[in-house]
Amino acid sequence: MDILNRIKELTKIINKANIDYHTYDNPTMSDYEYDMLFKELKELELAYPEYKQPNSPTDKVGGVILDRFLKVIHDIPMTSLSNAFNFEELEDFYNRVKKEIDSFELISELKIDGLAISLIYENGSFVKAVTRGDGQVGEDVSENVKTIKTLPLTLTKPVNITVRGEIFMPYGSFQKLNRERETEGAPLFSNPRNAASGTIRQLDSSIVSKRGLDIFLYTVANADDFEIENQYEALQFLHDLGFKINKNYKVSNSLEELIQDIKDFDIARHNLNFATDGVVVKVNDFNYQKELGFTARHPKWATAYKFSPEVVETKLLKITFQVGRTGVITPVANLETVEVSGSNVSRATLHNEGFIRDRDIREGDYVYLQKAGEIIPEIISVNMDKRTNQLPFEMITNCPDCNSLLSKKESDADHFCINPECPSRNINQIIHFASRNAMNIDTLGERVVETFHGLGYLNNIIDIYYLKDHYDELIELPGFGKKSIDKLLDAIENSKTMPFSKLFFGLGIKNVGAKVAQIIVSELSDIDTIINATKEDLTSIFEIGDVIAESIITYFKDEKNLETIKFFKDNNFVLSQEKIEKLEDHYFSGKTVVLTGTLEHFSRNELSDKLVLLGAKVSSSVSKKTDLVIAGEQAGSKLTKANELGIKVLSEQELLEILENE
Ligand code: IVH
Repeated sequence: MDILNRIKELTKIINKANIDYHTYDNPTMSDYEYDMLFKELKELELAYPEYKQPNSPTDKVGGVILDRFLKVIHDIPMTSLSNAFNFEELEDFYNRVKKEIDSFELISELKIDGLAISLIYENGSFVKAVTRGDGQVGEDVSENVKTIKTLPLTLTKPVNITVRGEIFMPYGSFQKLNRERETEGAPLFSNPRNAASGTIRQLDSSIVSKRGLDIFLYTVANADDFEIENQYEALQFLHDLGFKINKNYKVSNSLEELIQDIKDFDIARHNLNFATDGVVVKVNDFNYQKELGFTARHPKWATAYKFSPEVVETKLLKITFQVGRTGVITPVANLETVEVSGSNVSRATLHNEGFIRDRDIREGDYVYLQKAGEIIPEIISVNMDKRTNQLPFEMITNCPDCNSLLSKKESDADHFCINPECPSRNINQIIHFASRNAMNIDTLGERVVETFHGLGYLNNIIDIYYLKDHYDELIELPGFGKKSIDKLLDAIENSKTMPFSKLFFGLGIKNVGAKVAQIIVSELSDIDTIINATKEDLTSIFEIGDVIAESIITYFKDEKNLETIKFFKDNNFVLSQEKIEKLEDHYFSGKTVVLTGTLEHFSRNELSDKLVLLGAKVSSSVSKKTDLVIAGEQAGSKLTKANELGIKVLSEQELLEILENE
């Protein structure tokens, strides 16, 4: 046999042995035999590199080093799924399907917490692996994906197929990796998903080959090319081709069965060696899937049921207190560090005295903690079985910083420090004023404000604009110097021309966030109109309720605050916003728009500014009055609601197109 044919033959034999071993758990040759064949192939490839096959199993050890990943357009887009966070939302999904189709089967599959990947095979041979990217365009990570031991490079049939699945890092590999990183002093990965996606983005594939990634396949993208009629058959077909599928799937015929299956999965998942975060529920029959079709972003025939967030127990070591920019006092739980939903938590807000009393939380207690919306850690309750002789919580009576007596109104849940000279209050107020969404004085961060405050240069917002008078002293301060002070003073000077809405937000009025500030400014146009506005004037604005209106009125009753405004006037800061010439014929003019999810090309604030300029009203909740929802990645309940109400939904791509055309 000539060399080329021997190389082809070895490639085929070894790839098949890999499938038998990894996919079918049925080794068909001894380790020794395998090693010998592998060695022979490796040597032949070295001597005759021109004959090496593109799907050679020797690539599994990696070696290719790239300088970047090429972009690839998905022939068939990779959509994401809508979510259901509880059984009611799941029922909503079920009923939406039921409305269109009388009788149908559902298939539920455990949702693997990894990263989605699309694989292209031609004639049964691996060609390319592409990440999801934005769903339309992904990145070619073939060299890395090829190193995954359980991925077949030659299939059992010579098919042209595009398949999709999830790359993940089993817990064992994850722990091993983090242990290694700890010894090296490298930052640790917070969870297996981040570790898997960080690994797939490595440019050196030999690193990838050592990290123990794994893959399950669950979708045949071009199912029409084969004789498969439903998702159940698709999973069998994938398995027959040599792919690893996740065996945790079930077919159900009613909502009750489905819920039972999900409950079973929620128990079974704790015994698996990989992370799961929910159950993907799909209408089984492909014809019905076609009939149901897609919304702007999601298939209507599937949804992702998300498991409730993980609850962990830890010890509450101490309750401390923070003073916010408005003087609000926030009790904070200092906890024994614990991992919850993938990250380490050692502090959690306790909101206010009432929150602590309602739950009878005491220093020294063991408490249950979860991440609300998987982001902010929150204490749910106390484990009373472990209570010993902890003393009941006592709210402080004096400011932890300036020691002045705290004030609390009957109607308010919070305690406040009302000492206008309170250092913490003032420092936080200045930090807020300088922050990115306010005046954006980028070098005036926490550390600098604290230092300058400590030295007596900065006691309030106005002092920022007198810093220049201390130039000679400031440049002598350790850690600063001429260059950084010049930069800081430039940024301060530039801030004087910031738009009115940013300045208004920067004032730090209680309950007035960036969005509310923008709304008030665009409705009332200038500072005097706002100062003179009555409660009725303010609440007649669609988004403004009593609480916000009262905060604004209280703020402008305070002489000190009026002095600050006078300073802005005397120094020609921007204190009005041109009433926007509503662009009558613009796509967005007069429309009430809600933004949801994460956008790739804008921050939400940027987009909101832009839409308001184009005449839209940006609102925070979806109601019948909403004309349009712009849904980014991971849009949640707002998108669900929009779909239910039949409100038009735009994807980021569609939005970009409209903005470009208009
Ligand atoms: S099906 C259009 N099945 O969950 C349907 N997805 O948004 C495409 N995932 O991006 C997804 N396990 O990364 C499907 N058994 C499974 C899955 C699964 C995990 C991921 C996938 C997708 C996301 C859902």
